[in-house]
Amino acid sequence: MEYQKAYEKLEKYGQLHVLKYYDDLSGYEKEELLKQIGETDFEVLKQCEHKAELNPRGKITPIKVMQLPEIEAKREEYTQTGLNAIKAGKVGAVLLAGGMGTRLGSDAPKGVYNIGLTKEVFIFQRLIENLMDVVRMADTWIPLYIMTSDRNHETTTAFFKEKNYFGYNPEYITFFMQDMAPASDYNGKVYMEEKYKMSTSPNGNGGWFLSMMKWGIVDQIKAAGVEWLNVFAVDNVLQRIADPCFVGAVIATGSAVGAKVVRKNAPDEKVGAMCLEDGRPSIVEYYEMTEELMNAKDDKGEPAYNFGVILNYLFREKDLEEIAAKKLPLHIVEKKIPYLDENGMPVKPENPNGYKFEQLVLDMIHQLDSCLPYEVVRNREFAPIKNKTGIDSVESARALCMENGIEL
Ligand code: UTP
Repeated sequence: MEYQKAYEKLEKYGQLHVLKYYDDLSGYEKEELLKQIGETDFEVLKQCEHKAELNPRGKITPIKVMQLPEIEAKREEYTQTGLNAIKAGKVGAVLLAGGMGTRLGSDAPKGVYNIGLTKEVFIFQRLIENLMDVVRMADTWIPLYIMTSDRNHETTTAFFKEKNYFGYNPEYITFFMQDMAPASDYNGKVYMEEKYKMSTSPNGNGGWFLSMMKWGIVDQIKAAGVEWLNVFAVDNVLQRIADPCFVGAVIATGSAVGAKVVRKNAPDEKVGAMCLEDGRPSIVEYYEMTEELMNAKDDKGEPAYNFGVILNYLFREKDLEEIAAKKLPLHIVEKKIPYLDENGMPVKPENPNGYKFEQLVLDMIHQLDSCLPYEVVRNREFAPIKNKTGIDSVESARALCMENGIEL
């Protein structure tokens, strides 16, 4: 982008401070900064002004969940249906690994974290091993798409190569990068990370399908006949991926999307709960749970919002194309953002100092007409690693792995 155009763009969005050091930059740095200005969507920063009214919620009511006894009764039938789809190459898997994993406190991508005790057991390795169970069962490689971000792409791809893809067939692994969004102070002014670079952060886990489109992967998927995509988070080291019974249940019930859920361990547990919102499938976040919702009972007298999502969804590819044409809501999240102070000195804040802007995969569910919440046994399939110690940590995930006979 030319200087004059960049100036006008920044002026329009009240971000002229981005050019504060321009005259001191080298030729290369000038080019880099102008390119970044050209590529950045500053429109999102304006959302700070009406943060409170951003995502008004509709009427929340309970949704029917397919619970364990119902699944057990049909396990064989569903598993066969799912296996047939997998064998026919209709199911792909999408690993969301673009996050910063700040709570874990490591600068490296979360997936390269070693949770082993007597040997190396990397998070990525655990996920590949889980997927390999289904590959062996179906006797077919399942295409795996791995989303990274600008911050971790090189390290992630190099790590997989170095580890020989943990025995997965690399022909069936495709990496792609998500987009970045500017990160700002509380007044919506973008921070500078370097004199020639604005602070950015990955734009959330909701942009994965758009990024797949951008990278030409959706065309490949369609040509290959993939009809379903099982999207999942990097941090749950016990999750079943392309689980044949889950795939079969979603297909057999004619659902637009399937969501694996676990029974919550307390009404106020910090997980999003499946619900209907204005009659459409949705997720109510733990911080949106009012007393009334926490105490609500269904027709069997059970807590009405008792099933939490674990970020493992099965989407129909066709529907994803429709969702991609719509605008997902924007979430503004408080965050620690490294920046340059008034004297141009780099600062790494200890506490949140601004906003990052994200779209979330859970908002994609609300765009669809029907969803099958599918219960899984919590201690067998849910061992998320968000923190180093305490709840949802390396420690708790290790204990759960050992409980499930996984050597660490
Ligand atoms: P989290 O919400 O736990 O975010 O991501 P995070 O960035 O990894 O971790 P913290 O909050 O900074 O500690 C849930 C899943 O979504 C992916 C993550 O990699 C993880 O699999 N994700 C998140 C992305 O792929 N991109 C994003 O921009 C954000």
